[in-house]
Amino acid sequence: MSTAVFPGSFDPVTTGHVDLIRRASRMFDRLVVGVLVNSAKQPLFSKEERVAMLREITADQDNIEVSSFEGLLVDFVKEQHADAIVRGLRTPGDFEYELPLAQANHKLSVQADTIFLASAPEYSYISSSAVRELLRYQADISGYVPETVLRYMREHGVVSN
Ligand code: PNS
Repeated sequence: MSTAVFPGSFDPVTTGHVDLIRRASRMFDRLVVGVLVNSAKQPLFSKEERVAMLREITADQDNIEVSSFEGLLVDFVKEQHADAIVRGLRTPGDFEYELPLAQANHKLSVQADTIFLASAPEYSYISSSAVRELLRYQADISGYVPETVLRYMREHGVVSN
């Protein structure tokens, strides 16, 4: 059985992430979405909230699991008995950032091979950091995040409409 890990901070998960997760899930028997817990950063959403939102969004797909992890990605990859890491590329800048990361992960563990998926062009400007910035100015983020996330934000008073 082939397994891949799709890691990220997902703070919050965007429509671009969801598109990549769905496409990656068609390439592997099992896809584990790994939510990074970075204790050095104060996230917009807690680990539990990010995991819950991702679980709800991917509930219709049996071969997708969502878990959180702390520490090195390669250790999470081993723990999940995964064959690959999948990362999305939106821009050439993403590739410049991702290539050394992929190489460092490969050096840490030969099991941790990274596969890059090109994002669909309609999502290439979307990022979690852009969403957080827009929220700071109470700007409209519809289209940036899935309906589940918008609903969650309304329920928790992060957005008002
Ligand atoms: O969504 P992000 O924030 O771009 O995801 C980054 C992520 C989670 C893939 C990356 O920060 C990561 O793997 N962090 C875990 C620590 C690690 O293994 N770093 C690589 C060693 S150089």
